[in-house]
Amino acid sequence: MGSDAKLSVFVATRFLEEVESIFASAFDATFATGRDAPLDELARWAGEGRRFDVVLFSLDVRMGAPEIAALPDGVRALATYSVGTDHIDFEAAAARQLAVFNTPGVLADSVAENAIFLMLAAARRATESIELIRGRTWSGWTPRQLVGGQLSGRTLGILGMGDIGQRIAVRAQALGMQVVYHNRRPVPDGDARGFSYRATREALVEDSDVLVIACPSTPETRGSVDAALLAHAREHLLVVNVARGDIVDDDGLIAALESGRIRGAALDVFAGEPDVDERYFALPSVFMLPHIGSSTIEARLGMGRILIDGLASWRAGDAPPNRVA
Ligand code: DGY
Repeated sequence: MGSDAKLSVFVATRFLEEVESIFASAFDATFATGRDAPLDELARWAGEGRRFDVVLFSLDVRMGAPEIAALPDGVRALATYSVGTDHIDFEAAAARQLAVFNTPGVLADSVAENAIFLMLAAARRATESIELIRGRTWSGWTPRQLVGGQLSGRTLGILGMGDIGQRIAVRAQALGMQVVYHNRRPVPDGDARGFSYRATREALVEDSDVLVIACPSTPETRGSVDAALLAHAREHLLVVNVARGDIVDDDGLIAALESGRIRGAALDVFAGEPDVDERYFALPSVFMLPHIGSSTIEARLGMGRILIDGLASWRAGDAPPNRVA
């Protein structure tokens, strides 16, 4: 690659037209056509002598050890259009000396707004309300109809107080909620901002009326919201997940909902997506969305731009903040 030539990028995932068009201007971009699995298509291009510096993809392309080992020679970086990186095997990437980039920050407001939407949906019994009106079975207003609870005056517990967790906290405070949180470490200015630290997940759950899961999926967090943890819950607890489905142990959450041990849940993410545990559909106290946390035009464009900027800065020999390996 000459110093003026653009980075050669294989774009393995299909994006919004607006995003593909900024990739097409910024890079010497080759877009997967969707006729084959994208990494097979990449291998075919490489077999025809094409050389790529970067593979750009998203959550729909798994970059496990076998996929990374099979990448064509010449690939020097992976760029994921997501803040989550649990679909990438970092050991395998390090063994190939691949730089890895993601999209922090730019989607945090979008995901935080979605968290508030989910909290309100769970508190106001949105699944039952929607079914009643769309099913054309509503017989008119009564004082007993679909009584939920306010968020105001309640305590929000946030599991994972990174950028997204903190933005959820600020929005919840505006709704009149108190904020407690658990994180590996307390947030430096947390007390000053009215965020109260809990040293264990159990202490967090004990003090929460609503629990929002906003931590990354790691070996430590996977399956951690389970029956044992929910045994510490108040009986009106609402569980909201905007992070990754596998942080929740579905058996534990479903048992707690079925038995009335907790009141409800609102989930944007699921273990094994796009498959969703069938038992959730039978529970009117569960509100579900198909992983739309970052699905706003603002976030989608920001995610594209941060990858373009990060790769340009890496190419210039700098260390951009969205380089995660
Ligand atoms: C992410 O970025 O990890 C979201 O889950 C999808 O945008």
